[in-house]
Amino acid sequence: MNKLKVMTVFGTRPEAIKMAPLVAMLTQSQHIQCCVVVSAQHREMLDQVLELFNIKPDYDLDIMKQRQSLSHITSKVVEGMEKIIKEENPDIILVHGDTTTTFAAALAAFYQHKKVGHVEAGLRTFNKWFPYPEEMNRKLAGVLADIHFAPTSTAKDNLIREGVDPTSIFVTGNTVIDALFNTVREDYVFKDGILKNLDYENTRVVLVTAHRRENLGEPLEQICMAINELTQEFKNLCFVYPVHYNPAVRETALSLLKDNPGVKLLDPLDTQEMHNLMARSFFVLTDSGGIQEEAPALGKPVLVMRDVTERPEGVKAGTVKVVGVDKENIIKEVKKLLLDENEYNRMAEAVNPYGDGEASIRIVKALLYWFGFTKERPSEFCVE
Ligand code: UD1
Ligand code: UDP
Repeated sequence: MNKLKVMTVFGTRPEAIKMAPLVAMLTQSQHIQCCVVVSAQHREMLDQVLELFNIKPDYDLDIMKQRQSLSHITSKVVEGMEKIIKEENPDIILVHGDTTTTFAAALAAFYQHKKVGHVEAGLRTFNKWFPYPEEMNRKLAGVLADIHFAPTSTAKDNLIREGVDPTSIFVTGNTVIDALFNTVREDYVFKDGILKNLDYENTRVVLVTAHRRENLGEPLEQICMAINELTQEFKNLCFVYPVHYNPAVRETALSLLKDNPGVKLLDPLDTQEMHNLMARSFFVLTDSGGIQEEAPALGKPVLVMRDVTERPEGVKAGTVKVVGVDKENIIKEVKKLLLDENEYNRMAEAVNPYGDGEASIRIVKALLYWFGFTKERPSEFCVE
């Protein structure tokens, strides 16, 4: 039997973090030939991940532009992928999640009559505009996909409700947990001087990230003002905020927070620094998707600065709370975690609804089964 030719395509930081463990597993399989394509929708933030996980892409579209538009990303990826797909002629193209690279690469695969596998399939808010454009990117990638790797049974149910053939869905867990199991260590020593010197025992370190398109402008200003008010009231508090390279994020965050000694503004951290910082923080304040999956596994309460989430499992487990972007509400919810020990302890229970570290292996097994290399359908991820 010829080897199965699997092409993976990704372009942003979170896709790279979540595809890295899968690329490692695909490369190890004796039945698979793996080809890695990056769009470089992100440049520096992608390269940080490629370096950490030692991934050397076979193709790099290098599309990133400052303040790029969604149509720029879409058109460059569709155009760039056509040539690569023709040259490599893969059996299947794997895309991940909900970015514009994901949707555009799936579309390019379809235009070339290629099979598409969607990793992290089936997450939904059921609101077209939140998160924007990710809800629609994920849905469109799902429509174009032939195989769906759903991280949880909730995601699988969403796909079934949309009419997807259940036999084409494999519940695998989320590959981000595979990554997390490799990066977090108790004796980890930070490379960053500020992180190395923080007193994690005696200071309440709150990890902050905020970058979503729908939070740019006024909502991000509200977030920053909430942080400023909180540091005035609580002296034993340190907000650590690695600021995304998006100029629209940096302009707001830096101008509103740079003079506050209770806030450490950093450049984006590499994944290992980030995961270990999360593991040592008191809680997390974020609008990120991936962090909502990582923090529960580490037993860290998460306040999500959005109005809806496509990741309800953490909310159901009690570790994640959706608090919106109104300044007063953020302050109220942060205070609750700082002052109410019962509330904190209730949220700080480590739960793992998103994975067990075996997601990438399950995806490889599902691919081999799907293409007839093995006879038995692989077992699925289920929460204990
Ligand atoms: C993208 C994804 C979003 C994901 C986020 C992860 C889309 C539409 N959005 O949003 O789903 O949550 O990545 O971080 O796919 N920039 C740099 N260097 C970098 C990365 C970004 O300078 O390494 C700047 C550029 O000016 C770029 C801008 O940030 O134009 C925005 O990047 P873009 O990928 O368009 O959007 P994100 O908000 O990062
Ligand atoms: N992350 C990182 N460095 C940072 C901020 C985030 O490595 O400075 C990681 C984080 O741990 C998670 C992923 O990036 O694994 C989440 O990416 P992001 O928040 O950019 O995107 P989203 O998940 O919202 O799409």
